[in-house]
Formats: sequence, structure tokens, C-alpha cells
Amino acid sequence: MKKFIQLLCGSLVYVSAHSQSNDPGLAIIPQPVSLTKNAGQFSLPQAVAIEAGTGPELQRVVAFLQDRLAVPTGRRVTVSSASPNATVRLLLNKTAVDAIGQEGYQLSVTPTHITIKANQPAGLFYGAQTLVQLFPKEIENALPVPNVKWEAPCVEITDYPRFAWRGLMFDVSRHFFTKAEVKQYIDQMVRYKYNLLHLHLTDDEGWRIEIKGLPKLTQVGAWNVKKVGYFGTFAPPAPGEPRDYGGFYTQEDIKELVQYAKDRFVNILPEIDVPGHSLAAIVSYPELSCTPGADKYQVRSGEEIMDWSHGHPPIALVDNTLCPANEKVYAFLDQVVTQVAQLFPFEYIHIGGDECPKNYWEKSEAVKALMKKEGLKNMEEVQSYFVKRLGKIVESKGKKFMGWEEIMQGGLAPGAVVMSWRGVESGVQAAKMGREVVMSPATFAYLDYMQADPIIEPRVYATLRLNKAYQFEPAPEGVDAKYIKGGQANLWTEQIYNMRTAQYMTWPRGMAIAESVWSPKEKRNWNDFFGRLEKHFERLDVAEVKYARAVYDPIFTVSRTPDQQLKVELSTEVEGLDIHYSFDNSFPDQFYPKYTGPLTPPKEAVMLKVITYKGKQPVGRMMALPIEELKKRADREKS
Ligand code: ACM
Repeated sequence: MKKFIQLLCGSLVYVSAHSQSNDPGLAIIPQPVSLTKNAGQFSLPQAVAIEAGTGPELQRVVAFLQDRLAVPTGRRVTVSSASPNATVRLLLNKTAVDAIGQEGYQLSVTPTHITIKANQPAGLFYGAQTLVQLFPKEIENALPVPNVKWEAPCVEITDYPRFAWRGLMFDVSRHFFTKAEVKQYIDQMVRYKYNLLHLHLTDDEGWRIEIKGLPKLTQVGAWNVKKVGYFGTFAPPAPGEPRDYGGFYTQEDIKELVQYAKDRFVNILPEIDVPGHSLAAIVSYPELSCTPGADKYQVRSGEEIMDWSHGHPPIALVDNTLCPANEKVYAFLDQVVTQVAQLFPFEYIHIGGDECPKNYWEKSEAVKALMKKEGLKNMEEVQSYFVKRLGKIVESKGKKFMGWEEIMQGGLAPGAVVMSWRGVESGVQAAKMGREVVMSPATFAYLDYMQADPIIEPRVYATLRLNKAYQFEPAPEGVDAKYIKGGQANLWTEQIYNMRTAQYMTWPRGMAIAESVWSPKEKRNWNDFFGRLEKHFERLDVAEVKYARAVYDPIFTVSRTPDQQLKVELSTEVEGLDIHYSFDNSFPDQFYPKYTGPLTPPKEAVMLKVITYKGKQPVGRMMALPIEELKKRADREKS
């Protein structure tokens, strides 16, 4: 252990003197714990021999590496369990370092050999991911690429994760994503060493998992009317409009996804979101609500169904809540949870619990009778009663349960794990109560939020820029870190209609969050990260994965001067960019005025156009802001 600490200290000094981003051969994300660059290069020979032991998990790592080293390079890559001439060695249980744990690894690249050592196959897999990042970007190609020098810099790396829970949530309910798309998502997340995929399987817009004995959940509950535009503002579909948009996973599909994830060392956390967000279930089985007339409801197609004007919780305009006073609801949940528990080997089931409107419960005679019988004082206690009963159902299937932070209201059920999302405060409070917590705060980790100015991004109600996501700290000051299982970023898909957009919203913020949950806190450095990120943009281009370049777009800050002139300030998230602008409606380039200080638009100007450059290269998008819009913003700021 002592030796290990010395090793870390030595390399810390080294790395701070040679930041990865200044080194053309090094751009590893997430940042490893310790990295020493040595002189020289490893050059991939024409025939590559991989030596690895046996066992199914190890074979998966070998298959991954064989594929990545052979396909783009065209090299012959063979595998054997003992080869005196091996170029690449994968060694299990041979490390001198216990501290790397279950998922850590040691990677050594010398001019002639590559060795990855780990305590478990997962560690070898992460070592292999790091190794891939050491080769030129063309290694990301799915086809052979000629004329590339397949070299990797000589390094010694010791690396292991800061948190065991490194999650991404994918909402497959608001818009359905196929099994093949979920697999693609898994392939992309493991590049950055995520190990948990949280699938949000049910909501008002669709029930996405086959449950035997409850066929209407997927015959009826998985389908709505296809609409395109701003989800949430659509007109209610007319009776008889075809309900043919959506889909679901059969139980065989789920088994295939679970296995696919497992082969890549990813656990899948299933979420069945109740008692709110349950319209798809209620439309399928209206008797699950407390509301007469629920049989007239339809699965939501993006029309308004909740009124948020009074804050949280919202007021439901149609009843999307399961009835906590109805025994049939608990029988239904038992049936669902029994099957979910069998399908997903992961030890937790997520039961949702967020944003549950209470207005229909308040009107229900059955709920009033329940309150009297159980001595429940208010609607929060009614919700807590529901969560406690559901928690017992989950535990009776041999699983643990977790829910969004609202499950704390009215009294947190024994055994419940809390997923903190409206900030980190609920997570801090739950940890103080000695409860386990996963941090996924909207303030730092909501991937559905806009990435730049609303004038250029698809409109969503909030913005989360990359540099803010990079500040995500899963274990904030004052919290006992032993209760923090880790962190997670969430991709809600109300406004995400296809896989390319899902990628655009996930990357690069998913890389920033990956570094928050994997890398040592003291190693996080925005400028260094950005340098590495730019190299990953090139890699994603080769891999044909979409990502946002919003980090290059300027930030607009508007105000009024004391004499009521409009004042426009421009800034950027990253250093070293020039902002060029015009007020004459033409498209600025690097020969246009460069921004150096606050701007006052000419009296009759109608448009401010801006674009950022890095040297002679345009890097940001051409942005056009009407002066009227800027004035509105300035006046909104003031009021
Ligand atoms: C949530 O964002 N409603 C958990």
C-alpha cells in the first residue's frame, strides 16, 4: 500500500509537469489516476499475438481487443493462453496493487510489448479501453484504414475508479429507442468507462417492457400518435388518429440487452416509474387509478397533461397516478416486479416516485378512507405509504429498491436508496440519515438540457453548458462519502426524436461526467480536459458518433447601461477563441471586427451575428441574435 502511494505521488508530479493535453500522443478520458510517459513508441506489428487466460469474462475482453486491434489496422491478431512471443499480455491476479480493486488496471506500453494487469476481467476491459485511446484516431474506424502508423506512446498507467456507480440514464419511454440503438448506446458509454445503464422503461408516453399476463401494457400502453415539433405543446390527438408510434422490448429482447451489457461490464438498472408518470399503465388498465373516467384517457403524445404553474408537485390535468388505496394496484405491481426482478440480474430496481401529482388523490374517497385507517396525515404520507408497500414487494423478490428524491417526502422507507436529482441537497440529507445515495443533479448532470444559447439549440427549459457539467461533484463538501454510491447523468427524451440527437445530447457532457465519477477529484482540470476533448471530437468523427460542438459557441450576457443603452457582453467557455461579429446582417469571418469588450448595437441595427475562431479555423456555429431578442433579455434580467 505504501509503495502504491509513493508511486502515485511520483507520477502526480510528473503529470502536472506534462499535462496530457499538451502531448499529441496522450488524450485519455477519463483522466487516469497515475500516468507516466516514457520515451519511445510501441509499433503494432503485422502479426499480433495476444496472450490471455481462459474464462468467459476474459474471453469477452480478448474479443473486444482483438476486434479493435485487427479491424481498422488490417493486422492479423491471434489469441492463445500461453505464448512466449506474445505482443499483448492480459494478466489476471498478477498485480502487486490491491488498491486498484475490482475495476482498476495497470497498463504498460513499451517499445516491444503491451501488458495489462488487473484483479478482475472488468479491469482488463478498462485497460483495453485506455489502450485503444493511445492509438491514432483511425483506430475508431469500423473498416480497415490504409497508410496509418499504428503506434502508441510508451506509458505506465495505474488506474481505478473513484466511484463504483458510474451511470447513464436513457429514457426509452418518451421516445422509444430500439434494441439495436440501446446496444449502440452501451458501446458508446463503455468507451468512457461507464458501468451502469439506467433504463427509464415506463412513463406517461409509453410502457416499454413486456409483462406476461398484462398484455395491454404493451398492446395499448406502448403506442401513441407520432407528432413532430415541441413536445409538451402538441394539440391532443383527435379520436381515431392512428396510434402506431412507439414500441416495446419483449422479454427475450430484455434478456439479450442484459447479456449484451454484461459482456461489456455494464449492469442495467430497470426503472418502473410509479405512482406518478403512470398514464400508459392507467390507459391499459384504468382500474389502477382512483378516478372514474380514466377509461377515456389516452397514452400521451406530447400534449399538456400537467400544470406546473404552482410549482412542485405539479397538478395533473388527467390522472396519471396509480391509486395508493386500491389493493389491485399492489397485486399489479407484484406481478410487474416479479418479472422485472427475474429479467434483470442487477441487485436494484428503481421504482421512480418523482413528480407525483396529488390532486386526484385529494378528491378520492378511497384515499380518504386509507388515510383514516392508516393514520396518514397528508398526501406526502400517503405517497410514503405507497412507496413503503412497494419497497416490501421489491425486497420480497430478493432485490433492493431505489427511487427519485421525492420518496423522502412523508418519511423515507427503510432500505430505500435515494437518487438525488433536483440538486444535491436531498442526497446530502439522505446521506446524513445514513442512507445510500446516487447523485444525479439536474444542475450538473441533466443531458436533456440545452448546451448553448437557446437561439441555436433545440429548445428545452434549461441550459447546462459543458464547463458546468465538468464541475459535477458526486460527494459534495460535508457529506460522508461512504454513503455516496456514485453519480449518474440522465438523458430524458421528450425532445429527442432519434438516436443521432441522443448522441448529440450525451457527448461531450457524458465525457465530463465520466471524469467526475472515475478520476481523482484533485486531477480534474478544465483546460486540460478541454485539450483532450478536442482530440476525442476527432475520434468521434471517425467513429461516426454525433456530438455537440456547443462548447465553442459564445455566451451572451445582456444588460442596460444607466442611460438605457443595450450592452452586450460576449464570452466563451474555453480559452484561446476569438469572437468575430457583425451588425450589418452579413456573415462574419476572421476578417470582421474581433470582440474585445462590451458592444452597443448601432441605433438601427436589427441583428447581431457572431462566430468563434481558433486561429484561422471557424470552430463555433454562426449565431444570429435579433436585437429585439437581446432587448427582451436585458429587460427580463432587470425585472
Ligand atoms: C426527474 O427528473 N423527474 C427525476
